[in-house]
Amino acid sequence: MTSPTRPAPVDLAHHSHLTGVYAPQRTEVDVDDLPVTGSLPESLRGSYLRNGPNPRFDPIGSYVYPLDGDGMVHAISLADGKAAYRNRFVRTPMVIAEEAAGQAIWSGITDGHTPSVAEVGPDLAGTVRELPDINIVSHAGRLMAMAEADRPYLLAPADLATLARTDCDGAMRVGSTAHPKIDPVTGELVLFNYGLEAPFLTWSVIGPDGSAVRTPTPVEGLDTPTMIHDMALTERYIVLFICPLRFDLVAAMTGGSLLSWRPDDGTRIALIPRDGGPVRWLTMDPIWVWHFANAFDNPDGSVTVDYVEWTYPNGFTDDPRRDTSALVRARLDPNGPVTRTTISEKAVNLEFPRVDDRLLTRDHHRVATVAKGPGDSGDLDSLWFHDLQAGTETCWTPGVAIGEPIFIPSADGDLWGAIGTDPESMRSRFYLLAADDPAAGPVATVDLPIRVPAGLHGAWLPA
Ligand SMILES: [Fe+2]
Repeated sequence: MTSPTRPAPVDLAHHSHLTGVYAPQRTEVDVDDLPVTGSLPESLRGSYLRNGPNPRFDPIGSYVYPLDGDGMVHAISLADGKAAYRNRFVRTPMVIAEEAAGQAIWSGITDGHTPSVAEVGPDLAGTVRELPDINIVSHAGRLMAMAEADRPYLLAPADLATLARTDCDGAMRVGSTAHPKIDPVTGELVLFNYGLEAPFLTWSVIGPDGSAVRTPTPVEGLDTPTMIHDMALTERYIVLFICPLRFDLVAAMTGGSLLSWRPDDGTRIALIPRDGGPVRWLTMDPIWVWHFANAFDNPDGSVTVDYVEWTYPNGFTDDPRRDTSALVRARLDPNGPVTRTTISEKAVNLEFPRVDDRLLTRDHHRVATVAKGPGDSGDLDSLWFHDLQAGTETCWTPGVAIGEPIFIPSADGDLWGAIGTDPESMRSRFYLLAADDPAAGPVATVDLPIRVPAGLHGAWLPA
C-alpha cells in the first residue's frame, strides 16, 4: 500500500552521489578465487571490510550524502594466496520492510516524513531510517556496523548476516559515534556520543571482554547540540574538537537547515581524562574536522593530534573562501595555547587519514590519506603517504576513484589496502601496496566480481 503522502522519487540521474562510482549496488554475491595480478602474501589471512551508504531501493523524498543510504558491507577475504569477495546489506527493520514491499518506504532523513501504520504496522510507524552505513568496527567478539550517533548492528563475521542491534552492555545505550577508538594496549573501546538534548555529549568505555566499564557519562561544559563526527584517543585523554556546526531544531521545524555553521563561536577542544578527572577545555579559531588520524601524549603533558582540517563544512555556509583541507599536526597544551603545523604540502582535498591501528594512542610516523591528484576526474583519485619522521610525502595515482587506505600488518611485509573503481569501465579492484614503498604501486591487485560503490570507512580483521 502506498501512502498518499509518500514523497516523490529522488531524481536519480542528476544526483552526483547516486550515479557514477557512487551508484548503488543491489546485487549480493559470494565469489571465491578471484583473479589476482601480482601475488598475495601466502601468510596473509584475514578480511578487509568496508561499509558505505548504499540505498536498498531508489530513494524517495531526498538523498543527502553521506547522511542517507542503507549500509552495505563489503569483505575481501585473503588466505593462502587467494582472495574471495562477499557483500551484504545491513538488514535493519527498515531494509527488511522495504524488501517485503519491493520499494522504498522511508524517505531521506532530512525530510521529516515518516511511514504510517498502514504502510509498516504499529511497531515501525513514525520511525526514521536507521543508518548503520558509516563504519565497521570489530571489538571483543562483536563485529559492528556503525551509525552516526546511534546504536550499531551486530554482523556475523563468517557471512556478514545481520544479527541484531546492540547497545554493548549499556555502553552505547544512548548511541555511539561511528568512529570509536580501540586502545591497542588496554584493549578498551572508548567512544563518545552527541545528543540533540541535554546532556549534549557523553562518553563511555567498553572493556576488552565486551562489558561496559563506563556507561554514558555526561561531559560538562557543552550547552548546545553540536555535530562531532570523530574523536582521537591518547593514553590519558579522549580528544574532541567541538567545531561550530550546531543543530538548529527551530530552523529545521520551520523549513530551514538542521545544521548551522556558527564560525563566531570558534572551535573548542575537550581533553577528557580517561581516569574520570575534570575536562580541560581549549579554544582556537573556527575550523571543521571530519576525521582524525591519531593522537598521543607527550612527556611534558601536552597532546599531539594529527587530523584533517577543513576551512569550513562544505554545504553548510556561504563562506566565499574556497573550502580546502590539509593534514595538520596540533600540539595541545592542557593549560594553554594550541599550535598547529600543516603536514601536507601538495595533496589537495585530502581526507580519510589512517595510521597503523596498532599504534592508536601512541606515537606513529606514517599517515595515509586519500586526495585529489592531477587531472579533472572530480573524484578522490590518489593515495598519499606522509612520513612524519622524514618529513616527506609520496603519492600513488592509480587512475581510478579510490577509497580509504587501511593498514594491513603482515609477516611478509606490512601493506596498505584500498578499493578503487574505474569511472570509465566501472570495474572495481582491491589494491595492496607495500607500506615501505607505496608509491611503487600495487604488489597485488584483486579484480572484484561486482562494482563496489565509492563509500566510507573500513577495517582489517585478521583471521
Ligand atoms: Fe567518518
